[in-house]
Amino acid sequence: MITDAQWEQLQRAAEDIMAKAYAPYSRFKVGVAGLMDDGRIVVGCNVENAAYGIGLCAECGMVSAIHASGGGKLVAITCVDQHGNSLMPCGRCRQLLWENGKPDTQITTPEGTLTLKDILPQAFGPEDLETRKEL
Ligand code: THU
Repeated sequence: MITDAQWEQLQRAAEDIMAKAYAPYSRFKVGVAGLMDDGRIVVGCNVENAAYGIGLCAECGMVSAIHASGGGKLVAITCVDQHGNSLMPCGRCRQLLWENGKPDTQITTPEGTLTLKDILPQAFGPEDLETRKEL
């Protein structure tokens, strides 16, 4: 379990990075912060593009930052909208978070703290590639 102080740190980090989002098309800024299993905090913001369909969600940036800064697994995540309110990751991003977290990784939601397993039940993951591979 993470401490209240750590949740507050995640909230601040998510709000700070949200302010740096590049979202001129949707005008919907998103920031996300994750606490890693080695204690470091990684962040990401959404980055849109004039070719609308190739915009990057905040979580994509965070996942890239995880690997760029040494890898590891997410222990806790906070994703916020432009008001700093808790925002649920889109479906694609839940899958990204799943592969870079653990089933019991905590995530803040408008309905309180849940786990990745709660928000992506029966997830597809790397094990499926092994267990279902043709011999
Ligand atoms: N967005 C994210 O960054 N993460 C999500 O999980 C939901 C949506 C962004 C994508 C787009 O730039 C903007 O929010 C509006 O959809």
